[in-house]
Amino acid sequence: MEQNSALLQMSNISKTFPGVKALKNVSFQVNRGEVMGLMGENGAGKSTLIKIITGYYRRDSGEGEMLLEGKPVNPANTLEAQKLGISTIFQELNLSPFLSIAENIYLGNPPKKKSGLIDWGLMREKAKAAMLDLGIDVDVNQPIQMQSTAVQQMTSIARALAMDTKILIMDEATSSLENKEVETLFGVVRKLKERGISTIFITHKLDEVFKICDRATILKDGELVTCRDMKDLNKLELISLMIGRDASDIVNKKKIYDPEKQKANVFFAAKNIRKANRRLNGIDIEIHEGEVVGLAGLLGSGRTELARVLFGDDQNYEGEMFMRGAAVRFSSPNAAIRKGLAFCSEDRKTEGIFPQMSIADNLTMPILGKICRFGILNNRKQRKVTQQYIDAISIKTPSMQTKIKNLSGGNQQKVILSRWLATKPDMIILDEPTRGIDVGAKGEIEELIKQIAAEGISVLYISSELDELVRGCDRIVILSEGRKVKELVGEEISSDNIMAAIASHSSQG
Ligand SMILES: Nc1ncnc2c1ncn2[C@@H]1O[C@H](COP(=O)(O)OP(=O)(O)OP(=O)(O)O)[C@@H](O)[C@H]1O
Ligand SMILES: [Mg+2]
Repeated sequence: MEQNSALLQMSNISKTFPGVKALKNVSFQVNRGEVMGLMGENGAGKSTLIKIITGYYRRDSGEGEMLLEGKPVNPANTLEAQKLGISTIFQELNLSPFLSIAENIYLGNPPKKKSGLIDWGLMREKAKAAMLDLGIDVDVNQPIQMQSTAVQQMTSIARALAMDTKILIMDEATSSLENKEVETLFGVVRKLKERGISTIFITHKLDEVFKICDRATILKDGELVTCRDMKDLNKLELISLMIGRDASDIVNKKKIYDPEKQKANVFFAAKNIRKANRRLNGIDIEIHEGEVVGLAGLLGSGRTELARVLFGDDQNYEGEMFMRGAAVRFSSPNAAIRKGLAFCSEDRKTEGIFPQMSIADNLTMPILGKICRFGILNNRKQRKVTQQYIDAISIKTPSMQTKIKNLSGGNQQKVILSRWLATKPDMIILDEPTRGIDVGAKGEIEELIKQIAAEGISVLYISSELDELVRGCDRIVILSEGRKVKELVGEEISSDNIMAAIASHSSQG
């Protein structure tokens, strides 16, 4: 296969939304068999560019050009783009949940018998082979909804390959995968590369970019910054290009350990928390006032299950919980909120974004009662609170009246986080708070968490990103298979120690 020849060439692409110029004369090129990283802060325009490539949006008319293998193309919708050989693996996959893996792979394009009827036997055989080719040994007759995210993504990829894809686009496709699954995915990307298939890869996890990408195109505020070979870039340079200033402060941030935190009163304690299904197997946890306690562990280790029990979202447990020494048992999340708890969940879709409502309304939703007087919304107060968070964690938006659905993914996440911080809770549970958040804003969120902890708020911090836990936590509780397997305090906290604890306890039965 001929390498280094241009497969996709885009020049002078612009996209205007009401009030926002999301892309300004961007040029972008992907060569055959290359893995191109598309990098930039939240709201930089990455997803918009992808959506133009895949026919989901039309670019502004006028100048600009999109060439595929040298020929002008202008896909009017995603199906047309797929027929041209451009496929997307979105984070939220567009598979049919009730159909089997095999049916999903060949949806709209099934192998047929001479008679014209669908050849189900052949379809299953081909599907099995296609998945094995991607390193996944799975029963292809199973409905797709029963599968893990990783298997669902592989099914999307198998589907793309069955449609003779030339370019595979992954927009934050790794954000809810485990490290092991990411490795498998990268193995597939490398294999495809050998076949001359190109990948456009978007992620906020910089280590991944260095692992898998050949080059990176960097966008900022809708404009092209530069395109570089990864081998000519280091982490500091990449971040600096993304944020448009020297990033030494971000890269060299050191942790400061404050032993005083362990001496504060215990704010929250849970004792011997168990679930009948054994997903939680006798967990003890204590969180002091103003302390940031991290929960580490693999997917399925019980982190989110525990958070849901603590927050009253799951009453089906045994064990005891105490707040400031007094026994509590929450009958609902609302009961927990009334007692001073807040929970920022990992999934903003179910968390209750109100897409048609403004940022200000979304952000102040739980505190509306507090900022109303005689049942009338105090606009000035609402504006003040909203502006405070827009500034504190750089929510990128033309105005606070913008509908939240028009924000980029990461900026939506920031609004939801602010919503909970604005309730001024005594304790906040953060489940993957920086998923989808860019590197600069991650730093800002980490700062904000430090600040609220310094004000005495207790924080339970769930994250799969070890760096973040190491930098942000005073203490780390490591879970495996529903049990607490280790606790690290202060100076003991390091990625190596966390990984060692996870490794020594996982898959031992
Ligand atoms: N449908 C829309 N209507 C109005 N504005 C939009 C729309 N879609 C995107 N935007 C705006 O366009 C800009 C680019 O958004 P885009 O989603 O492309 O960012 P991104 O680089 O993918 O960010 P993230 O890393 O957060 O996913 C943002 O300012 C966003 O608010
Ligand atoms: Mg995006």
